[in-house]
Amino acid sequence: MGSGIATVTVRAGYRTLIHDLDDARVARGVDTVRGFLAKSAKLGKLTEEQAAEASARVEGTTELKDLAGAGVVIEAIFEDLAAKRDLFGRLDDIVGKDTLFHTNTSTLSVTGIAAGSALPERVVGTHYCNPAPLMKLVEVADGRHTASWAHEATIEFLASVGKTTVVTKDRPGFIVNRFLIPWENSCIQALENGLGTKESIDAAVTGALGHPMGPFKLLDVVGLDIHQQVATRLYEQLRDPKFFPPPMVDRMVAAGDLGRKTGRGFYTYDDNRLFGS
Ligand SMILES: NC(=O)c1ccc[n+]([C@@H]2O[C@H](COP(=O)([O-])OP(=O)(O)OC[C@H]3O[C@@H](n4cnc5c(N)ncnc54)[C@H](O)[C@@H]3O)[C@@H](O)[C@H]2O)c1
Repeated sequence: MGSGIATVTVRAGYRTLIHDLDDARVARGVDTVRGFLAKSAKLGKLTEEQAAEASARVEGTTELKDLAGAGVVIEAIFEDLAAKRDLFGRLDDIVGKDTLFHTNTSTLSVTGIAAGSALPERVVGTHYCNPAPLMKLVEVADGRHTASWAHEATIEFLASVGKTTVVTKDRPGFIVNRFLIPWENSCIQALENGLGTKESIDAAVTGALGHPMGPFKLLDVVGLDIHQQVATRLYEQLRDPKFFPPPMVDRMVAAGDLGRKTGRGFYTYDDNRLFGS
């Protein structure tokens, strides 16, 4: 998700620094951004010059202190409350007081994450949709202590990177996952029950419902591990069985068939890039 969001920001003209835990992950993030931009140029979505300029705007680091000059920090790390809180706490000592902290959490409380910062008023939930470079919508959710200046600056920033925003509440799943997760679960159940093949269900959804991608191609982009985690967490919070992931998800995760990132999910891929197959 982080590299998808970085693609959005460099394309919009922002210098963007990808921070991750080790050199290999940083390199993978930077390569994913540059790969997407190169592919966009090949497809005629950007000129070669635009793609080269955008590629030059992304850099990587494993040193948090390199984020010192950032105007906006967009957090897209593991879906772990303690880790997200800790990160924002450490960033407080590095960046300026008016730097915006955006969290891309799917299931955690924005208020809970913001409590990790000494300045929770600067923290805003910005939930991008996957794949971030292609999907226009971002859900915006304020925490309990988010200041109106931070909310307004966030809406302005998201408009500047070409996103449409919907404002929602700091509640489990926001708007999109409240609908998406039960629907994806029902598609997986339909596949398990033999109602159709992955190809026929994807074709039915794109052809009749107007979705740009069928559920199985989308789940491969999202990652089966992420779907399992998001679905389980929403079930735990909402206690509604329609959020509980079907057994097929557990089997796929146990087998390491996580989607594009492992080369195999519902479909197989010859590399792990967004347009890889
Ligand atoms: N995958 C999706 O479709 C999707 C959609 C919307 C939101 N999100 C949210 O985005 C976040 C990331 O999801 P993902 O699918 O990209 O997960 P991922 O596991 O693919 O990537 C997480 C990245 O964060 C890095 N990381 C972990 N801890 C870190 C730390 N302390 N400092 C720096 N980097 C760290 C990891 O090394 C990894 O590269 C989650 O909060 C998730 O809920 C994901």
